[in-house]
Amino acid sequence: MGYLRECVGIESRYRRNRKAWASHLEESRTLMLEAAGQCTARDTVLIFGAGLLHDIPLADLLGMFRRVILADLLFMTPARRAARREERIELVTLDVTASLTSLAEGNTTLTQPTAYLDDPSISLVISASILSQLSVVPNLYLEKRFRQSEAESEQLGQALVRAHLAYLGAFECPVALVADEAHIIRDRSGAETATVSALHDVPLPAGGRSWDWDICPLGEIDRDHSVMHRVRGYSDFSAI
Ligand SMILES: C[S@@+](CC[C@H](N)C(=O)[O-])C[C@H]1O[C@@H](n2cnc3c(N)ncnc32)[C@H](O)[C@@H]1O
Repeated sequence: MGYLRECVGIESRYRRNRKAWASHLEESRTLMLEAAGQCTARDTVLIFGAGLLHDIPLADLLGMFRRVILADLLFMTPARRAARREERIELVTLDVTASLTSLAEGNTTLTQPTAYLDDPSISLVISASILSQLSVVPNLYLEKRFRQSEAESEQLGQALVRAHLAYLGAFECPVALVADEAHIIRDRSGAETATVSALHDVPLPAGGRSWDWDICPLGEIDRDHSVMHRVRGYSDFSAI
């Protein structure tokens, strides 16, 4: 559906903008470790969207939990290498929407995910900057392949965001969430020219804390505009 292209794109953007991304990645890691520190059980931490590993404090989590499950649709070399070196790291190829097979056929009725909900070894779930991504590839694919309209894309995007939040809310263990909330576009002078919801206007609950991710500094997209993501993180999403 285009996931490999998307992942390679994110990786190249990361390499070009390593410095600009550093504070966001650090904020994300700090929040994940805060969540881990609050856990009373320390068996398994399950991380959704961990295929690139940029924002995952893997060594620290391995020091705190018996097992780390990295779950994603695909894994880049650093995650594969880490799993080869450490048997307590498990790579799990998982569609967190549980709906990609039907979406690939043009069927937009979503299935509510249930993976790991009944697994008592899961002590902490982390959703790592994946929420706003869930609709990106499916919508591009459906618009191209099935002529899905813009309004239908919005609707599907909202349904995917709501389904992931409901999925996280269904875990009995603590859950940490890091998610893009808005995309802010600025001109050369730094003045804001547009702000667009990253979540198809589905509001996140109050609480947590927010920070800015300088994802596309001037020159990344063009010479006249930069894009900032407003990110919100919750170290204990289930408590909200
Ligand atoms: C923006 S990246 C996440 C950032 C990542 N935590 C990092 O290393 O910075 C989004 C990730 O979500 C994954 N992803 C997107 N849709 C997914 C799905 N339906 N199921 C599982 N993973 C998905 C992508 O493969 C990608 O690795």
